[in-house]
Amino acid sequence: MAETKKLLEIKNLKQYFNVGKPNEVRAVDNVSFDIYKGEVMGLVGESGCGKSTTGRTIIRLYNATDGEVLFNGVNVHGRKSKKELKEFNRKMQMIFQDPYASLNPRLKIADIIAEGIDIHGLAKSQKERMDRVYELLETVGLNKEHANRYPHEFSGGQRQRIGIARALAVEPEFIIADEPISALDVSIQAQVVNLMKKLQHEKGLTYLFIAHDLSMVKYISDRIGVMYFGKMVELAPSEELYRNPLHPYTQSLLSAIPVPDPITERTRKRKTYDPAIHNYELNEPVEFREVSPGHFVLCSEKELKQYQMKLK
Ligand SMILES: Nc1ncnc2c1ncn2[C@@H]1O[C@H](COP(=O)(O)OP(=O)(O)O)[C@@H](O)[C@H]1O
Ligand SMILES: [Mg+2]
Repeated sequence: MAETKKLLEIKNLKQYFNVGKPNEVRAVDNVSFDIYKGEVMGLVGESGCGKSTTGRTIIRLYNATDGEVLFNGVNVHGRKSKKELKEFNRKMQMIFQDPYASLNPRLKIADIIAEGIDIHGLAKSQKERMDRVYELLETVGLNKEHANRYPHEFSGGQRQRIGIARALAVEPEFIIADEPISALDVSIQAQVVNLMKKLQHEKGLTYLFIAHDLSMVKYISDRIGVMYFGKMVELAPSEELYRNPLHPYTQSLLSAIPVPDPITERTRKRKTYDPAIHNYELNEPVEFREVSPGHFVLCSEKELKQYQMKLK
């Protein structure tokens, strides 16, 4: 169960690329949300809406164009000593979509997993280093014998387990999982999600779990944020988001999830989202507003009233 302590506070985060040029992209445009300690925060939206950039900026792979990211109350993007930066790099880890591209094909699994242990000097001897690698392999459902093999000898699901072991090796507090199951066979997806859930409980981890559709995130996330074109359009506890989706874009995403019942599936209508339906007046303030406790929607004052009526 998630505690109520804020582990991360993302405030008015902006990440623009090619600023001032004709191809300027506002990949993340004034996004604010908190991530509580011990929770899984899901982040969804279609390809290109800015999910990865949000994750990468939080973890400091990019310098933010503007805004703040506080980790345990400390600004991640502020001026820091080398030692503090190294500590941030240890506490925040990332798991990637393509487990093959993210594992160095020339390194043995043991060296891939131990990379962070070496960088951060977390093992006092060669024996301690290898014991830790063996333990991590077991933690993710692999075994000792796998340590001397190379990435190409593993299946997609196994490689993702290796990616998870590598992230866990430095005992992080926070993990960004960027579409960790999108490249895997459907039959393997649930296994990897279950492993991540188990690890979250055992190690008290906090996740930002990125996905492009709403089907698997519901199962793993405590709360879900929906992104559209660089903006966060809705954020709510998972159950609430599925029960009462308010933003028309969230409704369109939900309508895209196939249902298991073939009869309902045949008549299922995919809603499309047209931003023009908001019909905002010029200069009408459109803000991220709290419609009910913990349920936020990007909307105008007028829409806020309509949404509140709807929830009554
Ligand atoms: N390094 C970059 N330089 C320029 N544009 C980028 C860069 N990275 C991402 N983008 C653009 O930013 C937008 C958001 O991309 P991304 O965060 O990868 O979306 P998502 O992960 O939701 O698919 C896209 O329009 C993408 O083309
Ligand atoms: Mg992405």
